[in-house]
Amino acid sequence: MITIALSKGRIFDDILPLLKSAGIEVLDDPDKSRKLILDTNQPDVRVLLVRATDVPTYVQYGGADMGVVGKDTLLESGTQGLYQPLDLQIAKCRISVAVREGFDYAAAMKQGSRMTVATKYVAIARDFFASKGVHVDLIKLYGSMELAPLTGLADAIVDLVSTGNTLKANHLVEVERIMDISSHLVVNQTALKLKQAPIRKIIDAFALAVKK
Ligand code: PRP
Repeated sequence: MITIALSKGRIFDDILPLLKSAGIEVLDDPDKSRKLILDTNQPDVRVLLVRATDVPTYVQYGGADMGVVGKDTLLESGTQGLYQPLDLQIAKCRISVAVREGFDYAAAMKQGSRMTVATKYVAIARDFFASKGVHVDLIKLYGSMELAPLTGLADAIVDLVSTGNTLKANHLVEVERIMDISSHLVVNQTALKLKQAPIRKIIDAFALAVKK
């Protein structure tokens, strides 16, 4: 049995064509079913639906043999014990700094001033501002980061931007792009040894589909 950990939403939608290229079709629709273990057309392949931030944990500890996870999550949670053979080039977006319309970001970034930044990506934000030599106070949030500058909780946010629609709808502007993000394949090291042939087959099919 090969168990693949996926998260609902962007990653799930974008991985379906790649799974198909490996001959795998998911039989349940996660939007209609409450099942967390989904069957596929391959009797020896199943899909686990987990939170995006839990994908590395499931794969690291062998709850899943492989998984698909955003680079943002990998950078934030660490990648101990995970084999990362492939950038799947899906669920592409970026991590950016955004502020309220009219906020003077350049002035706030000047050495000596102090800025408060709210984010789910504390490690990424800390590294970014440290590389600029700017001291920031970080506030950890778990969602709806856009609210922080609007309510005075923070001067800026560090968050994922895809279309930019969420920022726009909340009168925020993207002032700096920290890094581009896409989803990566991660594989449990032990599973790779014990189930080498079927796992390699999936990796190779994905690699071929990504190149097209
Ligand atoms: C992300 C991010 C933004 C939104 C940006 O949230 O936190 O809120 O997407 O997308 P856009 O630029 O296309 O508007 P996501 O949907 O991943 O959910 P989350 O709040 O659970 O992170």
